[in-house]
Amino acid sequence: MEIVIKPDYDAMSRCAADFVETSLRRKPDLVIGLATGSTPLGLYRELARRHREEGLSFAHATTFNLDEYIGLPADHPQSYHSFMRESFFRHVDLDASRTHLPDGNAADIAAECAAYEAAIRAAGGIDLQVLGIGNDGHIGFNEPSSSLRSRTRIKTLTEQTVRANARFFGGADKVPHHAITVGVGTIFEARQCLLLASGPDKAAAVAAAVEGPLTAMCPASALQFHDACTLILDETAAVGLKRGRYYRYVYDTKPAWQQWEKPAR
Ligand code: PGA
Repeated sequence: MEIVIKPDYDAMSRCAADFVETSLRRKPDLVIGLATGSTPLGLYRELARRHREEGLSFAHATTFNLDEYIGLPADHPQSYHSFMRESFFRHVDLDASRTHLPDGNAADIAAECAAYEAAIRAAGGIDLQVLGIGNDGHIGFNEPSSSLRSRTRIKTLTEQTVRANARFFGGADKVPHHAITVGVGTIFEARQCLLLASGPDKAAAVAAAVEGPLTAMCPASALQFHDACTLILDETAAVGLKRGRYYRYVYDTKPAWQQWEKPAR
């Protein structure tokens, strides 16, 4: 795992945008796995700015989101369809036909999950998977005890996740309890993973994911087995890491040919 520690949320977001931009410039038809939640908002804002001001184009890219609530109308302001449209899709040149989210209102949820997996395969698989992390260690909506080989399926949100997401819905009683999520196994097949975390309430989950045992009780720990996983953290999310100094040293002494971050502007 490559661990990058940035001073604050904005620096984390710019650094993540550098990562995505470098991948996209190398492969304009990049298949990108996207995440929702508050963490990637700064990344999406920065990518949209680069699109507007610097000509960064997503015209040939394809996207697959990690998850969607079950039973929330697609046009509900808190659906992930709405979230992605408002925070990213409508600000860049991504064709709607190339953006994908699971349909949380499908009549046959199991068939929808199988079709989502097939669509990812048909697109050639995910090149770059952007991830957040839940304060219980989830990735996507793969809550603790999720099989580390799981595929796209229905999951029940933990009470902790329902509470964490209550802020978006104006109360825990309004948060749906079920979601369709790609599996840990699905995420694991992405050629590269990029996990972002910000804020002190993520510190324990980040430490468990990076330095704890590989366990289904912290689904993000499965990334220890991934051969190309980068974590970009802000200082406050990194405070629980025992080897923080070493990760900084590794990053600061990286050979030039391995670097993807743009020089400070
Ligand atoms: P957050 O959610 O970005 O809103 O903290 C992350 C997650 O639950 O995966």
